[in-house]
Amino acid sequence: MSSGIAHRCALPDASFEEAWQSIKIAESVKTRLLAQSILALTLRPAVPFETAPLHGLIVLAGDPGTGKTTLARGLASRVAAMIKGPKVTFLQIDPHGLASAALGKSQQQVTTLFQQTIPEAGMGGLAVVLLDEVETLAADRRRMSLEANPVDVHRATDAVLAGLDLLTRTHKNILLVATTNYPQAVDPAFMSRADLVEMIPLPNAEARGEIIADTLRGLAKRWPRVADLTRDLTTFVAASDGLDGRRLRKAVVGAAAMSIETARDPGLTTSQQVLASIKAAGRSAKEAGREAA
Ligand SMILES: Nc1ncnc2c1ncn2[C@@H]1O[C@H](COP(=O)(O)OP(=O)(O)OP(=O)(O)O)[C@@H](O)[C@H]1O
Ligand SMILES: [Mg+2]
Repeated sequence: MSSGIAHRCALPDASFEEAWQSIKIAESVKTRLLAQSILALTLRPAVPFETAPLHGLIVLAGDPGTGKTTLARGLASRVAAMIKGPKVTFLQIDPHGLASAALGKSQQQVTTLFQQTIPEAGMGGLAVVLLDEVETLAADRRRMSLEANPVDVHRATDAVLAGLDLLTRTHKNILLVATTNYPQAVDPAFMSRADLVEMIPLPNAEARGEIIADTLRGLAKRWPRVADLTRDLTTFVAASDGLDGRRLRKAVVGAAAMSIETARDPGLTTSQQVLASIKAAGRSAKEAGREAA
């Protein structure tokens, strides 16, 4: 695969759709993402850019572990399933594969990406391109630190913006979905080109209940007694306030690691262990938050 491409496949993709279903979030968010994506693909070929300046770019912003990458992939697949007909290709960009310490190299790679790799993926159909962790690709030019080769990063961001402008005017069959943990570290000119910036929140109580139940059900397929733990769902939900989806799933599964016995036979995991594991995850999340602040 050419440098900077993390993944390429045909859409729809069954595993992406399953992942989309696994993300518990207000249905209105999923609908908004789908509608905006479909509109971009419907409207852009039909109306001049000057009238309707849609770039075909959606940004998902939010804390780590809130399901952004999973949602972006699921969205790509759902869009492909709904726009029946043309061949749809999925491309996931690995920004770290592009960044290079050698002066000017990443700039050239970015240009190749936007002028060649992405348009090629859309040839004869549509392409949905995931720009994961876009703060690396389109770093805010005003926040460049001196030791991090500011000239090169500056040029790379310039190249992303130039590439984006050219791409969106000449290739209206391409949808870009970008994710970031640090919207404030992404260049504002990039953010301003987004048709929709969706803030992906930490899961609320309802979503946490679904995530915990879903995780327990998954375990119960192999260890049926785990299903009994759903009796204490309300307690688990109350204790898990502030946890992201990734930490929460890990905490539920990790409850079995509270003793060697349950690690060997997760079917023996108790409610007390699940609760203790969730509380421990909450404490470490708080500490991590304090360190970051
Ligand atoms: N709202 C949610 N509902 C269900 N599962 C979730 C939710 N949020 C996160 N997860 C789970 O957490 C894991 C991580 O999700 P994902 O990698 O998509 O997060 P992310 O936002 O891209 O994280 P990062 O910013 O660190 O890249 C996945 O296994 C996903 O199923
Ligand atoms: Mg991610």
